[in-house]
Amino acid sequence: MNGQIDPKKYQEAADYIRERITVKPEIGLVLGSGLGALADEVENPTIIETASIPGWPRSTVLGHSGRLVIGTLAGRNVLVQQGRVHFYEGYEPDLLIFAVRVMKLLGVGSLVVTNAAGGINPDFKAGDIMMITDQISFAAMGGAHPLRGQNLDEFGLRFPDMSQPYDRAYQALVRSAAAKVGVPLREGVYTWLSGPSFETPAEVRFLRVIGTDAVGMSTVPEVIAARHCEIRVLGFSGITNECSADGETKTTHQEVLEAADIIGPKIVRILREVIPAL
Ligand code: HPA
Repeated sequence: MNGQIDPKKYQEAADYIRERITVKPEIGLVLGSGLGALADEVENPTIIETASIPGWPRSTVLGHSGRLVIGTLAGRNVLVQQGRVHFYEGYEPDLLIFAVRVMKLLGVGSLVVTNAAGGINPDFKAGDIMMITDQISFAAMGGAHPLRGQNLDEFGLRFPDMSQPYDRAYQALVRSAAAKVGVPLREGVYTWLSGPSFETPAEVRFLRVIGTDAVGMSTVPEVIAARHCEIRVLGFSGITNECSADGETKTTHQEVLEAADIIGPKIVRILREVIPAL
């Protein structure tokens, strides 16, 4: 059940962070499994362990370190969230959006979300970068919705519009940036499943039929919360593995982390170009 969060908790967490930083973050970045290296690019960083922030949920997963790195990147004030929490860790959906709401209170107007994802589109290869153009909230459609429960009017509407979850102007910037820096770019639909089990062959075939290009266990709740409070969103999936529709190949967390090592630097090259224009 949602509804564990006292709305005052967002403000307490934002106050705690604000007291420790000197820049006002304009852009939030959430780094997915194994994609944490981008945080090393932040200049003049202030590092805050998320475990020290009141109310902040704790990540329990290998590859998710649980830090905020606040500073400048490509000339803009950024707040980089290294490590996120997932539904499969046992958190209720409303806790998955805690970070985004705190970012909103800190003044963030643009959010860049990244994740490690399985390739459902048969053309995709491990190591590819996919710009997310739309999403299917599988778990939310089934009722595990981050905005279920009392609406917090100070963040947004009871029935938020989701016609453009990923900002189209930002997508145009990414297409030009990727071409300029020579990183091949895929585009497609990301589907959120609860996890933690990877998909069966029948589920992979099902996901293809419904229009999924990449599948994963994160991101979508954050994007819903961001759009609810009118933060503009840009999203990337790093394709870490090719999902098998015939059951002939296995998926492991280890291969996901290894592929993420190759993907991270490509996303960094694109973001360095795009961030000044967000
Ligand atoms: N399925 C779901 N989530 C994932 C995968 C996958 O194949 N790879 C990385 N995250």
